Amino acid sequence: MARERNYVSEAVMRRMPKYYRYLTDMEKTGIERVSSKELSQRMGLTASQIRQDFNCFGGFGQQGYGYNVSELRQEIHKILGLHNEHHVIVIGAGNLGQALANYTGFEKDGFLVKSLFDINPRLIGMSIRGIPIHDVDEMENYIKENQVDIAAICTPKEKAQEVAERLIRGGVKGIWNFAAVDIVVPNNNDVVVENVHLSDSLYTLTFQMSGE
Ligand code: NAI
Repeated sequence: MARERNYVSEAVMRRMPKYYRYLTDMEKTGIERVSSKELSQRMGLTASQIRQDFNCFGGFGQQGYGYNVSELRQEIHKILGLHNEHHVIVIGAGNLGQALANYTGFEKDGFLVKSLFDINPRLIGMSIRGIPIHDVDEMENYIKENQVDIAAICTPKEKAQEVAERLIRGGVKGIWNFAAVDIVVPNNNDVVVENVHLSDSLYTLTFQMSGE
């Protein structure tokens, strides 16, 4: 039976991957059952917060039993869309683009990097872990002819918006942006952008250290 999904706030959405990560680790260490109190202690949340979060999805667990770790992990796996395979392309095959292509860890969750694109003639024609680097001028054609679910933007920030617009025109629905600029997408389409600003995270760390 399909679960009823209520309104899911940004804050709840941001916590779901963390639940998944903790439950995956717990399952690996052989933990079969967990109460919301125990889960809250591990994750630094309150038990009522956890119950409220899960209520957005129709609620999990049983009064007096808690949660079955594997079943809960499986439900969240589905909620996160991880039951689908995702084909990924990377735009900008420099340091970060190559690092993403070299990282095999995403594959176990079904994220498959299929191709990289760049403007640099010295990179075009090379491959990273067997994944080809194509000329970015071939990107639109590639998108038309192949399944592309997610595009990771790893270009200099000055090029990121323009690259995003080309990707959106080509029909890509998921943009994972690493350039230090917030990608703007038109309101009237169903494209989702996730900006990953590593420097924001670093500045948050130094802000907390500065004590000013
Ligand atoms: P990089 O300079 O090594 O690579 C950028 C690549 O993009 C180059 O190969 C370049 O030829 C290519 N490129 C330029 N214009 C393009 C276009 N219009 N279409 C396709 N490819 C194009 O830079 P790096 O270090 O890989 O960084 C990439 C982005 O990620 C930057 O915006 C940077 O600020 C950001 N970033 C990188 C981090 C890192 O750890 N390397 C950390 C945080 C952010």
